Amino acid sequence: MTTGIVRIGLIGAGRIGRIHGANMAAHPRARLAAVADAVPAAAEALAAATGSHVRDADSILEEPEIDAVVICTPTDLHADLVERAAKAGKAVFCEKPVDLDAARIRDCLEMVRAAGAKLMIGFNRRFDPSFSMLEKRLRAGEIGAVELVTILSRDPAPPPLDYVARSGGLFRDMMIHDFDMARFLLGEEPVEVHAVGSCLVDPAIGKAGDVDTAAVLLKTATGKIAQISCSRRATYGYDQRIEVHGAEGLLAAGNRHATTLTRADARGYISDRALPFFLERYAEAYRHELDSFVAAVLDGAPISPSGEDGLRAQVLADAATEAARSGKTVQVG
Ligand SMILES: NC(=O)c1ccc[n+]([C@@H]2O[C@H](COP(=O)([O-])OP(=O)(O)OC[C@H]3O[C@@H](n4cnc5c(N)ncnc54)[C@H](O)[C@@H]3O)[C@@H](O)[C@H]2O)c1
Repeated sequence: MTTGIVRIGLIGAGRIGRIHGANMAAHPRARLAAVADAVPAAAEALAAATGSHVRDADSILEEPEIDAVVICTPTDLHADLVERAAKAGKAVFCEKPVDLDAARIRDCLEMVRAAGAKLMIGFNRRFDPSFSMLEKRLRAGEIGAVELVTILSRDPAPPPLDYVARSGGLFRDMMIHDFDMARFLLGEEPVEVHAVGSCLVDPAIGKAGDVDTAAVLLKTATGKIAQISCSRRATYGYDQRIEVHGAEGLLAAGNRHATTLTRADARGYISDRALPFFLERYAEAYRHELDSFVAAVLDGAPISPSGEDGLRAQVLADAATEAARSGKTVQVG
């Protein structure tokens, strides 16, 4: 490894790959060594925008001069690429989820462990400045013991139907981030999952076998509770809020708006809509997430969120899917 610089190969130059690619190119301790995409024009455009080079995924994995790989392909390719990168001796950052099948994730993590590779998962919300500060102050004991975690997570509009059909369903595709956040804030593993889902936004989502509106309750062995409220619709922008209620008070983080401007008149107060979607709302989080991966590779800082975090969120997503389907509480080990 070149002293003090991690040379990274990016596989997948789509929506999220372009964000990570630009952040790598701008990072003082990283170099975007190569970009691969199944669509050559996508790789070429990102390489041109970042001063990087186009290679195919195989040659990135085989290149000894590349220290780490960032995987941003569609989900069904993640586990295979993680395994191949780990076997090739690379540090790996993989976008969420590792796979839609928990058994496949377990096998993949076993292989990563055997290879002794570093693996970080893209649960970017942990790196949002407000959410990360909330967690730090919680751990510092500012509101005493955690009792209730409330997560509000609503997309501005549903994704295209062909995406819905192969997404694994709202609980695995969208709420996976919230399951990770619930674990992060509870500080304990949930053991009980209750869930309900409805189709209130678009009947075509129901026809595709999914829900677009859902609520989940999680309970830990000591009785701490997390409630998650999710929708594929929010008319006022991307709605991402968290409250943690503790024995001695409350910590709350609200939405981000384009400006802090408010107009007040006889009708009330009017301010900007919430930021449009994840690319805007979590722009800083993606940069901090990359910082954390670079520090893990170069300085040996602990990896977080880990592959195990990816697995545990997936197990909760599977349990919620089953709880909503059956109407029964699902216990998780
Ligand atoms: N953490 C987050 O905030 C976040 C946000 C969006 C997406 N994601 C995750 O990131 C992944 C990608 O999502 P996206 O929205 O960027 O999708 P996308 O479809 O925009 O991009 C995927 C890219 O991978 C490329 N690709 C497909 N097969 C390939 C292959 N064999 N080799 C190389 N490239 C290949 C496609 O051509 C495309 O450019 C998904 O797993 C998704 O769940 C995470």
